[in-house]
Amino acid sequence: MVRVKADSLSELRQRRSAKWRSFPEDVLPLPVAEMDYPLAKPIKKTLIDMIERSDTGYSGIVPELTTAFANYAKRNWNWEVNAEQFHLATDVGVAGVEVLRLFTQAGDTVVVNSPVYLNFFTWIKEVHCEVKDVPLLHVGDQWALDASGLEAAFAAGAKVYLLCHPHNPVGHVFTKAELEKVAELAKRYNVLVISDEIHAPLIFSESEFIPYLALNYAARETGVCITSASKSWNLAGLKCAQIISDDPKIHDVLQGLPIAIPWRTSILGAWASVAAYDEGEEWLAAVIRNIDENRHYLKKLIDKHLPKAKYSIPNSTYLAWIDLSAYELEDVAALLLDKGRVALNNGCDFGVTGHNFVRMNLATSKEILKEAVKRMASVLEA
Ligand SMILES: Cc1ncc(COP(=O)(O)O)c(C=O)c1O
Repeated sequence: MVRVKADSLSELRQRRSAKWRSFPEDVLPLPVAEMDYPLAKPIKKTLIDMIERSDTGYSGIVPELTTAFANYAKRNWNWEVNAEQFHLATDVGVAGVEVLRLFTQAGDTVVVNSPVYLNFFTWIKEVHCEVKDVPLLHVGDQWALDASGLEAAFAAGAKVYLLCHPHNPVGHVFTKAELEKVAELAKRYNVLVISDEIHAPLIFSESEFIPYLALNYAARETGVCITSASKSWNLAGLKCAQIISDDPKIHDVLQGLPIAIPWRTSILGAWASVAAYDEGEEWLAAVIRNIDENRHYLKKLIDKHLPKAKYSIPNSTYLAWIDLSAYELEDVAALLLDKGRVALNNGCDFGVTGHNFVRMNLATSKEILKEAVKRMASVLEA
């Protein structure tokens, strides 16, 4: 069985990603969604081979990636991907913006469910549209879609719904019933559903992930999937994402994507993604086992050291969404950074419902998690 161990702090501090260069040396950084694990061997090998052959030119279209993704989707989710409607993009951010650009005009409304991935707000702004927030419902430890709020937003004329499936930062995996409701409403009100499925391979055993386009006919008629291997196999710096549809009318509109779009995708990213989808499942299973342990370990740490904090264990992703409102502090993330020397995402960046929350990265070692919680407690429980 493949085992994966997080790099040590001294190894991690040699990394050059923004996560490791944005803070002073004495700060423990857990905000950016990237993993502290070493790369999967098949990906490493692919990249090293390419570098040794100086194979670092332009990519262009990569049919092998369509096949690798389609096979992965069939094996894991029983999704028959339409290979004729498969596009590359630089990253999921670019994919989201380019699709929004094609389906909206300035001033149109785009629906999101806060608290939600902070860049949904910047993508919508980039295409000069307006955000309509239909916050997720949080009942006990469960998150859920507010279907009547969604219907009201659609009925009021929204053009696009940016669905974060699975959901960053709360880790909710939308259920079949929720997705059926989304598809039914999207069809009734003629709303495009952009389903951001970047976290889809990162699911724990209690949940089932259903790709939006694999749901039913109404979903295929209303949906575009944007995704990539970058979250699950830690390839964010390699720049390669996918845009997928399965409907002739949507396909026609997507023909308006910039001709250069595959050329703006990295060749290293494209082939690393082929290796991830074709040969990365064992590594991913090992990583999910680590994160599974970590999501429960964090609960124990919080119960012991931060008794007033509230944390619902996520069903997917490697992100923990922690409610610190009981500590009644102004700008708690800034305080934790300043006094505790621990960097977390500020919940406010995820929409108004994120006020007094922080987001913590679980794709790391238990030692780092423990140290992070100790640093938080030194400020909050002082
Ligand atoms: C839901 C979601 N979409 C998109 C992204 C960004 O993806 P990319 O780096 O491919 O733009 C993230 C990053 O964390 C994310 O959580």
